[in-house]
Amino acid sequence: MAISVSHYGFMPDGKEVKLYSISNNNDVTLQLINLGATLQSLYTPDKYGRVNDITIGFDSLYGHLNFTDYQGKVVGRYANRIANGSFSLGGKKYQLTQNEKDKTCLHSAGEFSDAVWDAIIADDNAVEFSYTSPDGTSGFEGNLTAKVRYTLTEDNKVVIEYSAVCDKDTVMNFTNHVYFNLNGSAMSDVLDHEMQMNASHYVPIDADSIPTGEIREVKGTAFDFNAPCTIGKRIYDNDEQLTLARGYDHNFCLCHKEGEADATVKEPVSGRVLKMYTDLPGVQLYTGNFLDGSVIGKGGIPIVKHAGFCLETQFYPDSPNQPDFPSCVFKAGEEFKSTTVFAVSVEE
Ligand code: BGC
Repeated sequence: MAISVSHYGFMPDGKEVKLYSISNNNDVTLQLINLGATLQSLYTPDKYGRVNDITIGFDSLYGHLNFTDYQGKVVGRYANRIANGSFSLGGKKYQLTQNEKDKTCLHSAGEFSDAVWDAIIADDNAVEFSYTSPDGTSGFEGNLTAKVRYTLTEDNKVVIEYSAVCDKDTVMNFTNHVYFNLNGSAMSDVLDHEMQMNASHYVPIDADSIPTGEIREVKGTAFDFNAPCTIGKRIYDNDEQLTLARGYDHNFCLCHKEGEADATVKEPVSGRVLKMYTDLPGVQLYTGNFLDGSVIGKGGIPIVKHAGFCLETQFYPDSPNQPDFPSCVFKAGEEFKSTTVFAVSVEE
């Protein structure tokens, strides 16, 4: 395998953004940019061998800078929401940037996603990005250095390895916010995609998309994907949770079954299959509910509602305020380490 590096653009402050392309021998190409340690594109063949990009996003730095909804970006230090942008740790209360409705802290106000990360070619099939967040940024305490390494394997897996250390006790939750559309373009939405997920419970939310604290069984609800079901089949069901979020925008509590993917998504026409594996306790299934076609994406195609789906692997949202959720607290010097894999294949 080989990696090619090219110029992608200049940031307003003159910093250069580069594009890294890794191709394997099966016509799969992974492209990355160091703005936001972004998964820029993933080209894969369909069942007829036609190669398309299965991610939704932007062709240019201009798009990323002006219209982003975190397409492909790494999110940190705390992905997803923290209620009222505040939490207490070690007896101290932290007030974070309230970047959503002047109330909630969402995706840590975009700090890691908007940063230009350092990059090294770590292997002939791997690129590693690193970024240090200075103490106090967005209200979080401690200097935090994060690394994200992307590897493309010959068996068509995109392996994303996160590691991070902070010099003060803190909360951490890193994810990648890539939107997939297995059709290979945003011309059609993802409602026909069939999803299977090993999750027995999910986390209901309130009107601000903050977890209520309940961990609810999926059984008998539109949130049960243990048996495969299209994303669209129940998305407009008369279910308060779907109405609140305008679709799926919820954390699913993963069962992690030995030898099985945590989630499998299939698109019947192209035959493309995406499998997701993670060691984190949850995943946010977000079906692009707030996309509205007002933004033009790759290939000049408007990014409409449900143009893509995200599987954002994570600690549950608002964990810093939810003592019954798995803990996202890391002591000073303690390493955050996690791996998420997206594996692509085709099925007749
Ligand atoms: C959130 C959505 C939000 C999207 C873009 C997702 O992680 O759950 O509510 O619209 O990110 O910010």
